[in-house]
Parts: sequence; C-alpha cells; structure tokens
Amino acid sequence: MATDKLVLVCALVMASCTPQNKEGKSQPFGKTPAGEPVELFTLTNSKGMRADIMTYGGILVSLKVPDRSGKPADVVLGFDTLDGYQSNPPPYFGALIGRYGNRIGGGRFTLNGTEYKLAQNNGPNHLHGGLRGFDKVMWKARTPDAQNLELTYVSKDGEEGYPGNLTATVTYTLTDNNELKLDYRATTDKDTVLNLTNHSYFNLAGQGEGDILSHQIMINADRFTPVDSGLIPTGELRSVEGTPFDFRHPKAIGERIDAPDAQIILGKGYDHNFVLNRSGNGPELAAKVMDPKSGRMMEVLTTEPGVQFYTGNFLDGSIRGKGGKVYGRRFGLCLETQHFPDSPNKPNFPSVVLKPGAQYQTTTVYKFSSNASQ
Ligand code: BGC
Repeated sequence: MATDKLVLVCALVMASCTPQNKEGKSQPFGKTPAGEPVELFTLTNSKGMRADIMTYGGILVSLKVPDRSGKPADVVLGFDTLDGYQSNPPPYFGALIGRYGNRIGGGRFTLNGTEYKLAQNNGPNHLHGGLRGFDKVMWKARTPDAQNLELTYVSKDGEEGYPGNLTATVTYTLTDNNELKLDYRATTDKDTVLNLTNHSYFNLAGQGEGDILSHQIMINADRFTPVDSGLIPTGELRSVEGTPFDFRHPKAIGERIDAPDAQIILGKGYDHNFVLNRSGNGPELAAKVMDPKSGRMMEVLTTEPGVQFYTGNFLDGSIRGKGGKVYGRRFGLCLETQHFPDSPNKPNFPSVVLKPGAQYQTTTVYKFSSNASQ
C-alpha cells in the first residue's frame, strides 16, 4: 500500500515536471466521401480568441471573437459537420481557394504559347480552381504550437488543367494581438499561374445573426475592376469616385447596395475586385469593417494588390449552417485578398505567373478589436 502511494506520488510529480504539450489541439471531424479522416485543429490566444481549422479544404470552420463587453461570438459562416461542406454548388465557406481565386474567362488561358483548358464550372467560366479546387482537397497539417497551424498540399502537374507540380503551404497564426494571419507560400517545377486566397464569410454580429447591411466598411481603393455579365473584368481600372464603390470613407454596406448602377446590377450587389492603394511591399490596410451593434471591428491587411468584396448575394436561405441558423441573402461578407480575376488573360493586370526557382509568398492579416458603445 505504502509502495502504491509512493508510486502514485512519483507519477504525479513526474507528470507535473513533464513539459506541457505545446502542439495545437486537434479532434476528429468526420470522414470525406472517399473515407479519409479529417482533423479539426484549434488555435487559441491569451485574449480569448479561438480559431478552428480543418484539414479538408484548410477551411476556417469557426472564429470566436469578443465584442465590446468581452462576449465572444463565432463571426464566420459554416457548418457543424463535414457533410455540410459537400453542398453543391459550394458556397466555399471559410475555404482556402486555389489554384486560382475567382474567375478565369472562358475557362482557358495561354502561357508561353501553350493554351491550357480548365473546368468551366461557372457558366462558360472557371471559378475558384475548378471542380476539385484546393477547398476540396486534404491538406497535411503540422502544428508547432497552439497558435500556429501549417497546412501543405502538393498539386500534381495537370491537376484541374493547370501546369506544374505545385507545393503550397498556408500557415494560420492566431496572435496575442487578436490577429488571424495567413501566410501563403508555393513553389512550382514549371511555369504556371497562381492566385491563392481564403473565402471566409464574416458577420461581425455573429454567424446567422441577420444580414451585414448595417456593417460599416472602408475599402482602401481608388479604383475597382468593372465586370461583364459573367463577372469577368473588362480590363478597365475604373475610378470609384461618384459611384457606389467609393468606400474610401466608412459607409454602411446597405447604403447603395441596390443602387440603379450598371455594375451593382451585374453583381446583384457587391461582387467586385478593388484595386488596393499601396505604397510598399509589406502588408498594408485593405479594408476595415465595423458592426455598430456589437462594436466588433475587423481590419484586413495584405500584401496582395486586390480584394474581392462579395456581399453574399447568392445566399438565399436554402443553407442551414452552424447551430441550425438559416443563412439568408447577404448574411455574410467576403474580403478575398487576391490578384485580380482573369489576370492570366489580362496583360495589363499584375502578373500571376509563378516560375520554377521563385517563391510565391503573400500574407493577409485579419485583425480584430472593438469600439466603445455609441
Ligand atoms: C465570387 C462570387 C461567388 C462566390 C461564391 C466569390 O468570390 O466573386 O461571384 O458567387 O465567390 O462562389
């Protein structure tokens, strides 16, 4: 008996001396239709923020952020189970998007004299990487600690029609400054095109808590890229001056979302790429969003030249998301930091070509805070 107690005491002492497991926590999150087990990783910080990300699609499943009184809410749309993420057509909730964020006109492009044909999965156009884009693949996870998750995916030469074996790594970091940071890196063994982003739908009042029309938004852009009826940029970089696209000073999203403006009509609201005002190479302020009710604020900083502002115009109440919440029209907003849509076919847009030996490297930061009540 005395020996048993001694053994117990020794075990307790040893356990308390063993270094804490610093790796991020994970739990099973179901299996894909192909039977692959999916893991859900949890990142936490010292300020009560929490991000849950799964290995399927590198999807940000949940993001808990405190409001002005410290009360947390989940500010991204999504599903409680893996099954929800198989819905068709996909809304791309929280997903990593690749190889190409947004549309490529006609589902084709020419690089070094060779024409590459891609899936036409959005009318005649190619959208978000095709039929099985990076949002639907399994990413390999590594968690050095509770605030970092590194996800890697190797995309084979010819996958979804794109050239080159491509190795992509996306690192999610939750900092003690209430920032969720995404670092995107990639290399290729053949000339290719690449435009990675994340497709989270934010609602700063909390997911499922109504539409985002009363959110105030500032977008740091003097110009945007007008589109045709298939939402392919015409190639023009148009001034936002005097248009519903002028968000250089904060405005309620709902103020002009249904204005009788040809571009608003084509987008059924906002579904446009903004040309960000930039002065250097590091992450710079792209947009700032604020929910007057909860006081939650989100700043988006990026190294990218553009951001797709999409106001969830295609959500129609047919999707039941987390906690059984019904997602109606405009219940979420996306700020997809990116190169401009259809850049492979637009020589006047910044290049999206990645060559062997070069490192694709972009960073986007979503920084959360809150303001005092008004
Ligand atoms: C596009 C929208 C599209 C949405 C979901 C956005 O990036 O710009 O047109 O409906 O993604 O696919």
